Amino acid sequence: MIKEFSKISKISGELSLPGDKSISHRAVMFACLAKGQSEISNLLESEDVISTMNCFRMLGCSIEKIKDKYIIIGNGFYGLREANDNLYCGNSGTTARLISGILSVQKFKSILTGDQSLSNRPMLRVIEPLKKMGCSISASYQNTMPIRIFPSQNLYPINYEMPVPSAQVKSAILLAGLHLEESTTVIEELPTRDHTERMLDLPIEKVNERTQISVSKKYYPSAKEYFVPSDISSAAFFIVLALIKPNSELLLKNVLLNETRCGVIDVLTSMGGNIKIVNKKYSGSEKYGDIIAKSSELRNIEIDKRLIPNIIDEIPVLSIAGLFAEDSFRINGAAELRFKETDRIKAMSENFKKLGLDVEEFDDGFEVGGRVKVHDAVIESYNDHRIAMSFSILALAEYHNLRINNAGCIAISNPKFFEQLNQVSI
Ligand code: S3P
Repeated sequence: MIKEFSKISKISGELSLPGDKSISHRAVMFACLAKGQSEISNLLESEDVISTMNCFRMLGCSIEKIKDKYIIIGNGFYGLREANDNLYCGNSGTTARLISGILSVQKFKSILTGDQSLSNRPMLRVIEPLKKMGCSISASYQNTMPIRIFPSQNLYPINYEMPVPSAQVKSAILLAGLHLEESTTVIEELPTRDHTERMLDLPIEKVNERTQISVSKKYYPSAKEYFVPSDISSAAFFIVLALIKPNSELLLKNVLLNETRCGVIDVLTSMGGNIKIVNKKYSGSEKYGDIIAKSSELRNIEIDKRLIPNIIDEIPVLSIAGLFAEDSFRINGAAELRFKETDRIKAMSENFKKLGLDVEEFDDGFEVGGRVKVHDAVIESYNDHRIAMSFSILALAEYHNLRINNAGCIAISNPKFFEQLNQVSI
């Protein structure tokens, strides 16, 4: 699908965006692990979360939508059963990596597959620690999907220092450790999103600036009611558009305000963005509230490398904000971007070049500045939802003659993205 845009004059009104993707995956997984009936409201119904639900249905869990809630019935500790086919994780790294942790400690075999993009993403990062726990798990020769898991007799708790900051790897280890009597500990130097530990209420210690998270069988989840706050990563596209489009003001309701995810708000505020947060409240251990964003004069700033794991999914759209700010936009310390749904450093740089911007690509980031010289370019999404949505924001902000190739991939995280944009475009 080639997406075309119409000219708009401003952004105005309010939106309630769908549930956070990271929390939606985890709510489904924990409800499926628990014994009995859990209910989830505001679950994100995107392709990635559907992949997680399909896998757990194949593992014997009942997942049904009744009115606007998901009703999940799980079978409790060691209650999953062997799937009668490969478990297809689609495009979703979170599904593949978190489910690897859960399935590696089961008493049956599993094979995990994914689409072309997921089949090229690195899996050694989860396989290595799970093998240290005694799990029998392997991937292809290039350490990519398919992942094969066999039951293992001897499982051990581990203390694991994370070599790369990754919430998916951390969660895979914690979810395996959740099945063991003794305590498994993950040690993080740079904090990554902490939904797994919050939702399972795991003990956390700070030792010499590092975070130590421990888990054991006693933290195994029980059935409960979940409310999923709106996705801050999806909200980021709308916030950036409201900031860079003159005369705009937007209210986003019930957005997740978890501190390991809000770096995008901090960066945009430091860039001069007029962003206010009101009505703060809690759903379980997750904070959320309403965000008001208004048109602003922006300037580019130096982005602290320690913040990268916190803003990793928002860097593409932050760079779009950077095009409307004083000086050039530069990001370093973000080599992990090369291992996302596509190589996002290359994808952003190549598309910026098509627009005639001055771009420099580094191993761990990129710099972009200058002025857009080509107004009718065809942007390539590389089938990556965040690339397609970032350039949609650029098109609506100023360059409505841009077109985006393969924009259907937005359904990975927000199938209603274009509909929501229409709702607030004037
Ligand atoms: C996620 C963690 C991040 C993020 C992804 C979702 C999660 O990936 O980029 O979109 O839900 O745990 P990494 O953990 O690989 O950095």
